[in-house]
This record gives sequence, structure tokens and C-alpha cells, in this order.
Amino acid sequence: MKIAILPGDGIGTEIVAQALRVLGVLDLHFETEQALVGGAAYEAHGHPLPESTLRLAQAADAVLFGAVGDWKYDTLERALRPEQAILGLRKSLGLFANFRPAICYEQLTHASSLKPELVAGLDILIIRELTGDIYFGQPRGRRESPDGAFAGAEEAFDTMRYSRPEIERIAHVAFQAARKRSKRLTSVDKANVLETFQFWKDIVTEVHAQYPDVALDHMYVDNAAMQLVRAPKKFDVIVTGNMFGDILSDEAAMLTGSIGMLPSASLNAAGKGLYEPSHGSAPDIAGKDLANPLATILSAAMMLRYSLSQPAAADRIESAVQQVLASGLRTPDIWSEGTRQVGTREMGDAVVAALSGNITKKTIKG
Ligand code: IPM
Ligand code: MG
Repeated sequence: MKIAILPGDGIGTEIVAQALRVLGVLDLHFETEQALVGGAAYEAHGHPLPESTLRLAQAADAVLFGAVGDWKYDTLERALRPEQAILGLRKSLGLFANFRPAICYEQLTHASSLKPELVAGLDILIIRELTGDIYFGQPRGRRESPDGAFAGAEEAFDTMRYSRPEIERIAHVAFQAARKRSKRLTSVDKANVLETFQFWKDIVTEVHAQYPDVALDHMYVDNAAMQLVRAPKKFDVIVTGNMFGDILSDEAAMLTGSIGMLPSASLNAAGKGLYEPSHGSAPDIAGKDLANPLATILSAAMMLRYSLSQPAAADRIESAVQQVLASGLRTPDIWSEGTRQVGTREMGDAVVAALSGNITKKTIKG
């Protein structure tokens, strides 16, 4: 088994380093190989996703990814910006199914911006289609407006589009995931306005016929955004398109206390996956030992479960994270009164210690 390690930019390097330490104490046998991606790769090779990095990702059994991006690249032409690396990896590896579980750990109910009773015990799964929609639709660009009230003026445009097979395959993934949980699926669309999402809704409804044991409901995205902060526990599995999924998964992250807690898995049809925290590169706190490494550590657990057939090791990591939270250690993003603030490294130390069965009173009380 080979894992491609792509730490990327900003806090990416620090948080991936902690995830590697955690993987290192598990006594599993796999090879790892690191490569540059994002701004770091642009600096070294003139491209955010160099051929060599792409080849490594293609050859590996799984990819562990940190984060990419920095404001200093915002003026580069789009094709050279760091974000193109993650978009290019998703597209070229065919990673169409993005799983973003939002779990509110018991110890973090007070870190959420919502009232504790609204989020206590929250456990939802957002399934985001990841290789279609307005993110990748062609044509796109800038031009002189050909018609309408502003004909002749400069304009920019993107294309929202989904084909039948793209919707069918993500719908199957979502119904199958719902089957393994509470058998409830909410499909989020904007069928009241958009042709693309009326088509989405029609096809999800068709596919539902093959999963009569799963209860399906449909919700407009604006309402879903509202319900997520009104009564989030009413949801179990949510399936939606690339753009709506991007937005709703950040919103759901805040329900759990911090986006620093949210792992993700992006899978292709063969079950190969890229694993990354749902948060970004946070250049403002990079290199300061402030970032929360737990989303990346939990992404490594998802990697063991989904791509490397090591469910027991995944369980061990997840319970080590629980233990560390129970011991009262918190990075700044999840800190609250009565807990002890630690940095990125010390949080990694604590997970490693918990995995080795060494979580001592000293670690607990500080
Ligand atoms: C995410 C990120 C990416 C996205 C960016 C970095 C391109 O926000 O993974 O949610 O929009 O998909
Ligand atoms: Mg996002």
C-alpha cells in the first residue's frame, strides 16, 4: 500500500505532519511519498499541480492532502492559482463523491456557535458531488455581453450543468450511505429556479425507486441553509451538488464547534480516495503552532477505513481523538472556559499518547 502525502500550503504542512505521526504509531505497513502541491509547487515548479505530483497521486492507493492557497497568489492567472491543484486532482482522479461528516463531539457542544441543546449529539453526513456543476461546467469566461439590457458591456459567466450519469452515480452513493445509517436522505436542490436542479431532483427521485427502504425528501438550498441552524439534528444524510455542498458543508462545520474538526473523503468509482480536512490553508495562523490538526488526523482515519481496509485502526484513531477531547485539551479554535489550550504539536502528541495507551493524569491536568 502506498499513500501519497501532499501537505500543500499554510497550515497544511503542520497538520499533515501530526497526522503522519499518528499513522506512524499504528504499526501498519505502508509506504508514503511526499510531493509539493498548491502554492508550494508553484514556487518550486511553476505549476500548482506538477506532472510528478499528479503521477504520484494517480499511482498511490490513497492521497492524504493538507490544504492549499494563500492570498499572495490571488493575482496569478486562474490556471496557476493553488486551488487549481485540488480541483485538478479531484477531476483527474474522478473523485466525484465527497463525504463530509459533521459530528458534534460531546465535549465540544459549548464550542459551537449554536445553543448546546441544538447540537448535542449531532451526527450528519453531507455527500457533495465533487466533479461537476458550475465548478467545472464549460463554457466559462469573460467577454463582451452579446445581448440583453447590458449588451456590449464586459461580462463574466460560468455554466451550471449536470449530466444524467453524474447525478445517478452520486444518488446511488447517497442512498447506499443512508442505508447504512438511519435510512433517511435529504436531497438539496434549487428546483424552483434552476433547470439543472429540477433535473437533479427528477433523477434522484427516479433512483429512489431502487431504494424503497430509504425515506427521501427534497429541500431547496436556501431552506436547507436555514434548517441547518434551526434544527440540524433533523438531518441525517444530505446529498447535493458541488456548489451547494461547498457552502452547506462549511455551515455544518460550525455546528460541530469548529471547521478544524471536520474531515473529508473524496472517492472515485473504484473506491480510491483523497482525504483532506474540510478547512483551508489559513495562512494567517500558518507556522504559529495554532492550527487544529484533528480534522486531518480524522481524515487519516477515514483513509484507513475507506481506502486501506483498516477499519480497526480507524476506530482506534477516532477513539484516541475522543479521549484527548475528554482529557480537556483544546486548540484555540475549540477552546472554552475550563479547558487547557494547546498548540498543533501538543495536540498531535496527545493523540499519539492516547494511541499508545499513555494518556496520563499529567497530560490530562496539564
Ligand atoms: C473545499 C474548498 C475548495 C472548494 C476550494 C479550495 C477550491 O472550499 O474543499 O470546500 O471550493 O471545493
Ligand atoms: Mg469549501
